Amino acid sequence: MEIGIDKIGFYTPSYYVDMAELAEARGVEPGKFLQGLGQSKMAVPPISQDPVTMACNAAQDILTDEDKMAIDYVIVGTESGIDQSKAAAIYVHDLLDINPYARCIEMKEACYGATAGLQSAVNHVARHPESKALVIASDIARYGLESSGESTQGAGAVALLITTNPRIAQINDDAVYYTGDIMDFWRPNYSDTAKVDGHYSTVKYLDYLDKVWQAFKEKNQLALEDLQAVCFHLPYTKMGLKALRQLLPEATDDQAESLQAHFENSRYYNRYVGNIYTGSLYLSLLSLLDQDSQLQAGDRIGLYSYGSGAVAEFYSLTLMPGYQDHLAKADHEAMLANRNRLSVADYETMFSQTLNVDGSKQELAAEADVAFQLVGLDQHKRLYSRRQDNN
Ligand code: HMG
Repeated sequence: MEIGIDKIGFYTPSYYVDMAELAEARGVEPGKFLQGLGQSKMAVPPISQDPVTMACNAAQDILTDEDKMAIDYVIVGTESGIDQSKAAAIYVHDLLDINPYARCIEMKEACYGATAGLQSAVNHVARHPESKALVIASDIARYGLESSGESTQGAGAVALLITTNPRIAQINDDAVYYTGDIMDFWRPNYSDTAKVDGHYSTVKYLDYLDKVWQAFKEKNQLALEDLQAVCFHLPYTKMGLKALRQLLPEATDDQAESLQAHFENSRYYNRYVGNIYTGSLYLSLLSLLDQDSQLQAGDRIGLYSYGSGAVAEFYSLTLMPGYQDHLAKADHEAMLANRNRLSVADYETMFSQTLNVDGSKQELAAEADVAFQLVGLDQHKRLYSRRQDNN
C-alpha cells in the first residue's frame, strides 16, 4: 500500500526584513548574511499571527470539504506552542472545521517535531487506510534583537495531507533515527527566545547527519547514487550546503553537479523566509518540488531532519506520476513576492510587541486579506477570527 503526501500547503506572514539592511544596522558586512548564511530576507510575524493561525493559513487552501470529513488525526509540530497544556491542533481542528471524531495532538522535539508527526501519521493511515491525517509544522523562530541568532529567525507553516494513494510522494519505509542528549539549542519555559550554542549546534547537526546517513545506507542497502536529490533541515540555507558537501565525496562528478543544482532549488524559498524550525525541512521539500523542472516521477529524494537537543532522522520519499499537477507554485511565489518590506526600526517594533499576561482584555489590529488571525485576548484566552467571520 502506498502512503505519503497527497497535498502540501504553505504560509508565511506578510512582512519581512531585508538581510542586507539588517546587516548594515548590526554593523556587519552584508556578505555575511547573504552568502555566509545564505539568507536574503527574513519573515517577520505581526502579533496577530501565532503558530495556530499560521497552521490554519497553511492548511486552508489545500483542504476540500471531503478531506475535512476524512481527516481523523491532526498533528501540529511546533516548538513555539501557545499553551503548556492544550494542543495547538485542537484550535486548528476547530478553526478548519474538521470532523469531530478526530485525534488532535501537538508534537514537540525542536525542529524534528513535524517529522515525528509525519511518521506517526503514516503509521495511522497504514492501519486505517480510509483515513487522512493532517500534519502541520508551524513555528516562529525567535532569538532576540541583536542576538547571535537574530539573523537566523523566521516564521511560517507547512501543511501536509497524508493519505493512501498519495498524489505527490510516497513516503518510503526506510527511516533511521538517532537521539543524543546535548545542549546545542533549547528554550526554557520562562523564555520567549531560544538559548543557543550556535557553533556547537552546527557541528552537532553535521555529526548527526553522518550518523543517520551511514545507518540509512547500511539498513536499506542504498547509496548516494540512488537519491536524485537530498533536502535538509535548513536553519539557514548555508547549513544545508555544508551538509550536502559532507555527502558529495561519495558522488561522481556528474552526480555531484546534479545534486548541487537540485539543492539550489531546494533552498530557494528558505532563503526568503528564514528558519521556520520544524517546517524548514518541509519548506525546502516544497521549494524543490515547485522550483525544480528536472525531477520526475519515480525519483527518490532523501530527507535529513534535525531537531536540536537532539534527534536526527534520514528517510526518503518517491515522487508520484503527475505530482507537478498537485502543486501551487504560482501561489507560493505570489505570497513571497507580495509581502511588505519593514525597515529595521519597524521590525524591531513588531518584534517587541507583547500579549497581555495578566488576563486583561486586549484587542489586536487585524490585517486585510489574511484568513486566520489572532484578534485578541480575554481572561487568558486567545480569540481567533476566520475570514468569513471578518466579512
Ligand atoms: P556567527 O558567529 O554569527 O557567524 O554564527 P560566523 O562567524 O560563523 O559566520 C557565518 C558564516 O559567514 C561563515 O561561513 C563566515 O565565514 C561567513 P562558514 O565558515 O560557516 O562557511 N562570513 C562571510 N561570508 C561572506 N562575506 C562576509 C562574511 N563574513 C562572514 N563578509 C550561527 C552563525 C549560525 C552560529 C548563528 O547565526 C546562530 O547561532 N544561529 C542559530 C543556531 C543555528 O541556526 N544552528 C544551526 C544548526 S542547529 C539547527 O539547525 C537546529 C535549529 O533549527 C533549532 C531547532 O532544532 O529547533 C537551530
